[in-house]
Amino acid sequence: MCGIVGYIGNTDARQIITCGLLALEYRGYDSAGIAYCINDSLNPVKIVKTTGKVMNLVNKLEQYNEDSVPLSGIGHTRWATHGGVTEVNSHPHSYGRVTLIHNGIIENYRELSDILAKDGKFPVSQTDTEIAAMVIDSYYEGDAFEAIKKACEVLEGSYSFCIIFSDQPDKIYATRKNSPLIAANCSTGSFVASDIVAIIDYTKDYFILPENHIAKLTSDSITVYDYFGNIFTPETIHVNWDIAAAKKGGYEHFMLKEIHEQPDAVINTISPRIVKGLPDFSSDNVPDDLFKNLNRIVITACGTAMHAGMLGKVMIEKYARIPVSVDIASEFRYSDPIIDEHTLVIAISQSGETADTLAAVKLAKSLGARTLAIVNVKGSIIALESDYVLYTHAGPEISVASTKAYTVQLSLMYLIAYKIAMIKNLLSDNDARCRTECLINSVDDMKATINMDQELFYITKKLKKADNIFYLGRGLDYAIACEGSLKLKEISYIHSEAYAAGELKHGTISLITDNVPVIAFATQDNVYSKVISNVVEVRSRGAYVILVTKSGEHVDTSLCDHHITLPKMDEEFTPFCNAVILQYLAYFTAVRRDLNVDQPRNLAKSVTVE
Ligand code: G6P
Repeated sequence: MCGIVGYIGNTDARQIITCGLLALEYRGYDSAGIAYCINDSLNPVKIVKTTGKVMNLVNKLEQYNEDSVPLSGIGHTRWATHGGVTEVNSHPHSYGRVTLIHNGIIENYRELSDILAKDGKFPVSQTDTEIAAMVIDSYYEGDAFEAIKKACEVLEGSYSFCIIFSDQPDKIYATRKNSPLIAANCSTGSFVASDIVAIIDYTKDYFILPENHIAKLTSDSITVYDYFGNIFTPETIHVNWDIAAAKKGGYEHFMLKEIHEQPDAVINTISPRIVKGLPDFSSDNVPDDLFKNLNRIVITACGTAMHAGMLGKVMIEKYARIPVSVDIASEFRYSDPIIDEHTLVIAISQSGETADTLAAVKLAKSLGARTLAIVNVKGSIIALESDYVLYTHAGPEISVASTKAYTVQLSLMYLIAYKIAMIKNLLSDNDARCRTECLINSVDDMKATINMDQELFYITKKLKKADNIFYLGRGLDYAIACEGSLKLKEISYIHSEAYAAGELKHGTISLITDNVPVIAFATQDNVYSKVISNVVEVRSRGAYVILVTKSGEHVDTSLCDHHITLPKMDEEFTPFCNAVILQYLAYFTAVRRDLNVDQPRNLAKSVTVE
């Protein structure tokens, strides 16, 4: 949440920073701002900020022609937490000699504000960030390192800061705690950013700034110090995807591009973990012992990742016969969970930085549980905090509404289920090989479903006018229904609910009236006839029914208004095709409603606050 970029080098800092902010806009788009250094001994740091999207900032900057090209600066795109969406609350914030940008929340800002008030120091904004600037300034006596270190000792909460001191315009300082920050130095200069996508135009090599460390950036180098002043050399990470992966590549929206990327993303994720036809996590350094002597598995995550966990529960319980609970991370972290060293806690997160999921991992570890992260972003905090990590290889996911990150998470859930079942001798090598092969083959079915775009576009003609839409399913299809409903709400702003099909009659069926759309997934053999009965129930109350079944089912056409037929396939793997269907339904509905698909209102892709 909130994107930050800092740059100092030999090129136009305003351009580098605003381009970086455009790439980071998925992290928030309430307002944007930049501070850059100019040749003015009285006011060397110039701040320009505006509400709305980064393009508003780009346009505003055109009014400011500088005598010489600014070569350093810091920029921010905001997802508002403390203080409304106003220009004064936008970052950068400045106090005394300090100008900074911030991602995170300073939880004790009220107490700190009261202390500062006693010295006659008052903020102009309503933000927690300005208080941080004031605290750092209060400790600043010419030694930036000391001031930042002392401030960090009193600041509580989460933060990534990029800081300019007005009397040191040839340097940028950065530090972080519980918020992401990467840094890189190359021939263009030195960079810090929330995410590598902001600077991938310049370098593919970067490092993660460790917590309790301070980075000092000059135009030709970055030096990282621990709090004792010792120089630390962080490990370099190389991204293996190309810059094109972070661009739209001819698609109208990132979401559409990412829907199309799913078959490759799934193959990239599962292939390195299939050895001699069997699931194998040894190249991830995940030992078989991790899955031995387990009494319980807890899957914890938020949003779409949590829905992947719901599917994981069905698969793991089916094959490995271990009780699995799926806990929303924001609930789990404040619960009193019954877990111990015989519990495996699996945290799923695309970004690897969701604050609630991170806290859930920390709690699980403190209670002695084993932790395994399923994460897309290399080196992210959740990956670092967990005992073990399985990276999904979806490449950068830019659209706020998650698509390919979800299906790759699903694919790992299958491999984990088979792997644990093998370890427990509940699945023979032959059967596991057969299941794994079906998983690989399901990628072709997914491709075939991606080609059903015209049919799905047509169906959304009716959906776009709806006020309420219901998603139904049982078993794996219920997990899919939950994701379908979330996807639709996120980007089309149409109210929607997902229901376990059998539960509808216990209340919600009262909301089904003439022409209310009901999207029913009936792709699981053991409950097929049950779901069809539920469809009959809503149909007889006037619902407008879109029914999804596998090929080969004899469906009474009077039951539904649209019948979507999946390719002929094993029922276990229909979620990969159903995922594409629910994504298309949400996507085309939002497009027909002329909405900003990739940046839906009020949302952010990476939620680093509670
Ligand atoms: C936000 C995003 C969702 C995402 C959720 C969890 O709410 O809008 O798309 O599913 O965070 O994110 P994570 O990065 O942990 O998977």
